[in-house]
Amino acid sequence: MIGMENFTFFSPTYFAFGKGQEKDTGMYVKRFGGSRVLIHYGGGSVIRSGLLDRVKRSLDAEGISYVELGGVQPNPRSGLVYQGIELCRKEKVDFVLAVGGGSAIDSAKAIAAGTVYEGDFWDYYQGKPVDQALPIGTVLTIAAAGSEGSPDSVITKEEGMLKRGATGEALRPAFSILNPELTQTLPPYQTAAGITDIMAHLLERYFTNTKDVETTDRVIEGLLMSMIHEAPKVIADPNDYQARANIMWAGMLAHNNCCGVGREQDWASHNIEHEISAVSDCAHGAGLAVVFPAWMRYTMHHNVMRSAQLANRVWGCPMDFADPEATAKAGIEAFRGFLKSIGMPGTLAELGASAEDIPHMAHSACYGNGGKGFVGNYVTLNEEAVTEIYKLML
Ligand code: NZQ
Ligand code: ZN
Repeated sequence: MIGMENFTFFSPTYFAFGKGQEKDTGMYVKRFGGSRVLIHYGGGSVIRSGLLDRVKRSLDAEGISYVELGGVQPNPRSGLVYQGIELCRKEKVDFVLAVGGGSAIDSAKAIAAGTVYEGDFWDYYQGKPVDQALPIGTVLTIAAAGSEGSPDSVITKEEGMLKRGATGEALRPAFSILNPELTQTLPPYQTAAGITDIMAHLLERYFTNTKDVETTDRVIEGLLMSMIHEAPKVIADPNDYQARANIMWAGMLAHNNCCGVGREQDWASHNIEHEISAVSDCAHGAGLAVVFPAWMRYTMHHNVMRSAQLANRVWGCPMDFADPEATAKAGIEAFRGFLKSIGMPGTLAELGASAEDIPHMAHSACYGNGGKGFVGNYVTLNEEAVTEIYKLML
C-alpha cells in the first residue's frame, strides 16, 4: 500500500481532566444543550463510591432534571438498551449521561442513537452508520475502552449472544470528564484488563500495510512505552495518582483515532476477542491479553521487519538483522511476560472458553457484524486461519 492516505478527523469531545472535575457535570450538561437527562450507570460501583450522588448534586445545582437507569453489565446487553430507549421517549429526555466504564458509555450511546431512530436500534449494530443521536456526556471511572472519545459502541444481543459494534460520528461524546482519582477503586484485574485494552487499541493501528507513517508509528510506540512504564506502578500501588492519570489520558489517545488516521488498521484481534467475551462473558481486556500475542505469532511472517521493529523500539529487544524473526519472537515473548506480570491470563481456559467453542467463534468472527468471511486488514484471515489462531490460545 502506498504512503499516508487522505483523511478527515473530527474529534469534537470537550475533555475536563483531573481531580474533582465531576463537580462540574451539571455545568457541562447545560453547556452542551441538556435540560432533561438520563443518568445511565453500571452494577453499583458508582453508588458505592459516592460518585453518583456527587453527579446528581451537580445536576441539581444547575436545575437540571433527570431520570436514572442503572444495571449495565460488563459486555452490555441489548435488553437494557431497549428499556433505556423507552424511558427516554416517555420522559422526553434530551441528553444521555453515562457514569461508569466503557460498558455504561456504550449502552448510553446505543440508547442515545435508538431514541431518535424510528427503526430497531440493532440495525446500527449490523452495519448501518449512526448518523444521529441525542448528545452524550460521560463521567469515566475506568481507563480502558476509550469510548469516552470514540465514535463506537459495542453491544451484545441476548438472542444468540451476538457481540457487535456500531460506529458514527454522532456517537462521539459532547463532553467527557476524566478524573483519574475515580479509577483508584478499581480491582487490580480490571486495572490490568484496561491497560491491555489500551495497548491493543494501539497495536490494532500499528500493524498496517501503509508505508511512511512515521508520525503515527512513533506516537503509538510512545504510548505503548508509557503503558509499560506506568502499569507496574499502578499494580503495585492502586492509589498512585500520577500513574492513574497517565494511563487515563493514554486510554483516550489510544482510541479517539488520532493514532490511526491516514493508515490502514487491522482489528482482527478485536473481532476474535469479541467472540470470546460473547461466549464466556470475560473482561474484554483480559480476552485481548490472550488473543493478541497469538495473533502476533500467527501473522509474524507477513512483515517480519514490522514485528521486529516493534520488538526493538518498544520492548527494547536487540535488533538481529541476520535473523529479524528472532527479534520479532523475542518481542512477542516480552509482551506475554508483561501481561503475565500484571495478572492477565494466557489461555482460553482461563477466560472460561474451551476448544469446543472454537468452531462457533471462528465462524461468527468471520461472518458476523456484516463480515463477508474474513477479519483483519493487515493480514486478511479466513475462518480456517482464525481457527488456527484460537488453537494457539489453548
Ligand atoms: O458495573 P460497575 O459496578 O460500575 O463495575 C464495573 C464493571 O464490573 C467495574 N468498574 C468500573 N469502574 C470502576 C469499577 N469498579 C470499581 N471502581 C471503579 N472506578 O469494572 C467492571 C468493568 O467495567 P466496564 O465498563 O465493562 O469496563 P470497560 O471500560 O473495559 O468496558 C468494556 C466494554 O467496552 C467495549 C468492550 O467490548 C466491553 O464491552 N469496548 C468498547 C469500545 C468503544 N466503545 O470504543 C472499544 C473497545 O475496544 C471495547 O470493545
Ligand atoms: Zn478494545
